[in-house]
Amino acid sequence: MHLLTIKDLTSDAAQGLLGRAAALKAWKKAGIPYSPFIGRTLGLIFEKASTRTRVSFEAGMAQLGGSSIFISPKDSQMGRGEPVRDTARVLSRYVDAVVVRTFAHTIVEEFAHYSTVPVINGLTDTHHPCQVLADIMTIIERKGGYSGVKVCWIGDGNNMANSWIEAAALLGFDLTLACPDGHRPDPDFFKRATEGASSKIKVVTDPAEAATGADVLNTDVWASMGQEAEAALRKAAFAGYQINRRMLSLANKDAIVLHCLPAHRDEEITGEVMEGAQSVIWDQAENRLHIQKAIIEMLLTSC
Ligand code: CP
Ligand code: NVA
Repeated sequence: MHLLTIKDLTSDAAQGLLGRAAALKAWKKAGIPYSPFIGRTLGLIFEKASTRTRVSFEAGMAQLGGSSIFISPKDSQMGRGEPVRDTARVLSRYVDAVVVRTFAHTIVEEFAHYSTVPVINGLTDTHHPCQVLADIMTIIERKGGYSGVKVCWIGDGNNMANSWIEAAALLGFDLTLACPDGHRPDPDFFKRATEGASSKIKVVTDPAEAATGADVLNTDVWASMGQEAEAALRKAAFAGYQINRRMLSLANKDAIVLHCLPAHRDEEITGEVMEGAQSVIWDQAENRLHIQKAIIEMLLTSC
């Protein structure tokens, strides 16, 4: 089994992961060691920068008793053009699972096709499933669950937004995305992802419409990795889409604020809101660790 998108999970599997991550977190807090994967190895191939994803997977694997090997294009043959399919087949002979962070989603799909061990998407241009699972874990901690919780996404219809759309359809919570024209999620993707969904999932233009009555306010950078050259144009396009005190005042009184990080303070979110009482951003970042451990466990015990 691979975890390339949220759609690779059934609703039961996603709920199982969320419950398991909470249990692993409780054990960690109580100092109860749990190291079932002694002698197992996790490979990490990262073609983009990372702090949270890399460190949470490496620390998580160590806590589970295993070890990790980090590989970047700078110091591997992949960076010199060795085909993805060859790298996947060779690494599968050495390690027990691989986390891949890359550009086109087709690269991680090709990697998984040729890999004989589980592959985890550590972020592509169009999906970031591990992050969204950690975000939902944070919602459960703060709201007691996600049923009936109104989530809003303000900003770019990017990789994070796509994984949120798939998660809302899979788990059945309401999601309103506010994105400026030209930066909405791909309409074909949106249609496929929301087909048969039991909850209300919609894309609007007005950020105030999305924020009004929301229980969760959620955003991300306006220029993702690989879009650095468009940063100035994007900054203009997203003016008015900032999560600030005024935007927060439209949401429910006890609304929480999420940001996957890294953040650009005073662009997509003000420093005041990030540091404010309704921000759960640091718990959200911590939960990456616990959800990664649940993902590793699920995949290493499924093969
Ligand atoms: N949120 C997230 O994936 O962070 P990193 O880019 O630091 O891994
Ligand atoms: N959308 C951002 C998420 C970073 C974790 C990016 O792809 O750069």
